[in-house]
Amino acid sequence: MTISHPNFGVLDPDRIIIFDTTLRDGEQSPGFSMNLTEKLRMAEALAELGVDVLEAGFPIASPGDFESVDAIARTIKGPVICGLARTGGRDDIARAGEAIRPAERRRIHNFISTSPLHMKYKLRMEPETVLQAVIDGNTLARNYTDDVEWSAEDGSRTDPDFLCRCVEAAIKAGATTINIPDTVGYALPEDIARIFTMLRERVPGAEKVIFSAHNHNDLGLAVANTIAAIRAGVRQVECTINGIGERAGNAALEEIVMAIRTRHDALAWRSAIETPKILRTSKLLSTITGFDVQPNKAIVGRNAFAHESGIHQDGVLKNAATYEIMTPESVGWTKSSLVMGKHSGRAAFRDKLRALGYGEIGDNQLNDAFRRFKDLADRKKVVYDDDLIALVDDEVMRGHDRIRFLSLDVHTGSKAKPRAELELEIDGAAQSAVATGDGPVDATFNAIRDLFAHDAVLRLYSVGAVTEGTDAQARVTVRLEENGKMVDGQGADTDTIVASARAYVHALNKLLVKRARTAPEALSA
Ligand code: KIV
Ligand code: ZN
Repeated sequence: MTISHPNFGVLDPDRIIIFDTTLRDGEQSPGFSMNLTEKLRMAEALAELGVDVLEAGFPIASPGDFESVDAIARTIKGPVICGLARTGGRDDIARAGEAIRPAERRRIHNFISTSPLHMKYKLRMEPETVLQAVIDGNTLARNYTDDVEWSAEDGSRTDPDFLCRCVEAAIKAGATTINIPDTVGYALPEDIARIFTMLRERVPGAEKVIFSAHNHNDLGLAVANTIAAIRAGVRQVECTINGIGERAGNAALEEIVMAIRTRHDALAWRSAIETPKILRTSKLLSTITGFDVQPNKAIVGRNAFAHESGIHQDGVLKNAATYEIMTPESVGWTKSSLVMGKHSGRAAFRDKLRALGYGEIGDNQLNDAFRRFKDLADRKKVVYDDDLIALVDDEVMRGHDRIRFLSLDVHTGSKAKPRAELELEIDGAAQSAVATGDGPVDATFNAIRDLFAHDAVLRLYSVGAVTEGTDAQARVTVRLEENGKMVDGQGADTDTIVASARAYVHALNKLLVKRARTAPEALSA
């Protein structure tokens, strides 16, 4: 089967298009929101990873969403940049069209619910009105780009005849990709296979478009369903890094890609993903969002290539293939390598960052990161790649912050009341405060509140370690809530209290951005 697509040309029959929705479906899940700098950093990493389509956001949802889709469209080269829009909303489609306009290659993804449940209770629309919206929405979207994707939301629970009519209408109106989401993660692999086989057999024009799968993980079946969809003829899969997304998440990009690659004997397709960059991208997302994947997470979890039992260790030492179905290196795991010591220079530091996958970092950020590296090398016996990644991601992400951490001195112990002396830079001016509290972290957070008054409530405080050992850097996540808006901040340092201060300040900066950007009409798909 050969398909000609406006952005991909004639598609090789064995080629799977990787549509990444980490910045849209992933980002809209609670606690995973990112600011503009973080989205741009993540988009850069996804482009380097080799995703084919990058769904950058939902431009009508808020001015902030519009701004980030527009910024990604202006700066990220490589993937097709996609903006989401509701099929029924003329303004949605116009706004998406405007946001993606600067991109070299662009796509509008429009969606409307087609299941009886959603049409009756959510949309309160008759099926025939939905069908007309599919015609109008896709016709309108084609005015902005030749690459138009249409999604039948809750498609897996849609009446088959109605689904066929909607898909036929979307194709006639100009959609070039047809996505059938399992929005609520209800389908089994055989349901997914049946739906795509039916559409490809019954719908006139089906041979001209690319079918796409978008599976949610409510029953833990998202990746299995995606593989079933590929077997049934879909050529695009929608997925996210680490499987983040609404509720239980979306199908995990790394799992789909490595299933195809590792089981090429049974799944004779290929993607353009540069698999050694998978781990790096996964870790960047964890640093940005503050959520580590669970240790046993396939491909990117800490234990994914760890062998605990003596029998397994013995086998791996004799021949790794005894217990490893893919090499750790093929997805980016390397032996924890010793970076440079405290005598290393800036040039070596810059080289090391390039080797870790950072492109060009601005001089100011490089200088700040280098200063922090020197400081870390003074305090920590061994600086690992992971330490550097945590430090640089922290620095790169804080470039435009209004509030910056400068220094912290904490006096604590079992006798005296903990006391924190904190220095912050607020809008360019250094300011300091001294505060006490019920513990060193409480004292530090009180000092932050004294320097920058705010009403946000602390909702979560968690500490993890970047590497192993008692001199490991602590990675702290702080969640703040203000008027129902949640933000997470992260900070890393060998000193847990300093990491806590950095995390709090990061969360506060995100809150300031959110205050400025969130429109009252904000919505999510
Ligand atoms: O899960 C879903 O149905 C979606 C659509 C917007 C594609 O995310
Ligand atoms: Zn979804």
